Amino acid sequence: MTPPLLTRSLALAPHLEWVDEIASTNSALVARAAQLHDGHLLATDTQTVGRGRLGRSWSTRPGQALAVSVFVAASPGHPVPSETHLGWLPLVAGLAMTRAVCALGVTGAGLKWPNDVLVGGRKLSGILAELTPHGVVVGSGLNLTQQADELPVATATSLALENAPDARRTDIADRALAAWLAEWLPLVARWREARDPSVLKPDVEDVLHTRGRAVKVDRPGLAPLLGTAEGLDDAGLLLMRDRDSVLTAIAAGDVTHLRYE
Ligand code: BTN
Repeated sequence: MTPPLLTRSLALAPHLEWVDEIASTNSALVARAAQLHDGHLLATDTQTVGRGRLGRSWSTRPGQALAVSVFVAASPGHPVPSETHLGWLPLVAGLAMTRAVCALGVTGAGLKWPNDVLVGGRKLSGILAELTPHGVVVGSGLNLTQQADELPVATATSLALENAPDARRTDIADRALAAWLAEWLPLVARWREARDPSVLKPDVEDVLHTRGRAVKVDRPGLAPLLGTAEGLDDAGLLLMRDRDSVLTAIAAGDVTHLRYE
């Protein structure tokens, strides 16, 4: 397969590392984390053993989806980013991807907490953030050209199925990567520089389709929680009010939107 032209992406990130095929961009950066500089980017359109949240796999066919991982190093003055900073990073990644797919012409995209990008209830992009002793690897997967019968599950979608105008162009991987870089680079700089990363809350809540929705939250080792998502707290946790009006802050879990509006 011919490697894609990366004109747009390299203009935004000249140090970008592109590989024609790899098992998992996240696994590769996690393994090399001790040697990486802040902002190291690794991308491909053919990932053979992609990994998802909660131990799931992220399987995509060769050449049909973008996989990009970025290393966010612990900053010089702050060897380990504060827990609050860490909590906001996956949300910032979701915000960047939501804005990117909107810029690519997808309508109605939004975030399911913490960072699945959905369109009409179908998943277009997923994000996996992994902590290492040296920093965080943030990996994003974006479905590009798949038709419905080429997607692993019926609840997924792609730029092509969402009629993104450029989805059938041969350089869609470059266009999608550049659209993501254009959002990610300024957002991660804001996140890094913010004394209090909750300054990003209005931006994240703006795209958070979970907000105001009836949801079910499956949490490891706990009974599922049913209620209404009210928004985010200052640590980026999901605030959920149950049927007895008890407010719970959710740190980790698998959210299901119970009704699609
Ligand atoms: C999820 O929705 O469960 C998260 C999916 C994350 C997939 C991306 S693709 C780039 C990076 N490399 C991986 O192996 N996983 C992430």
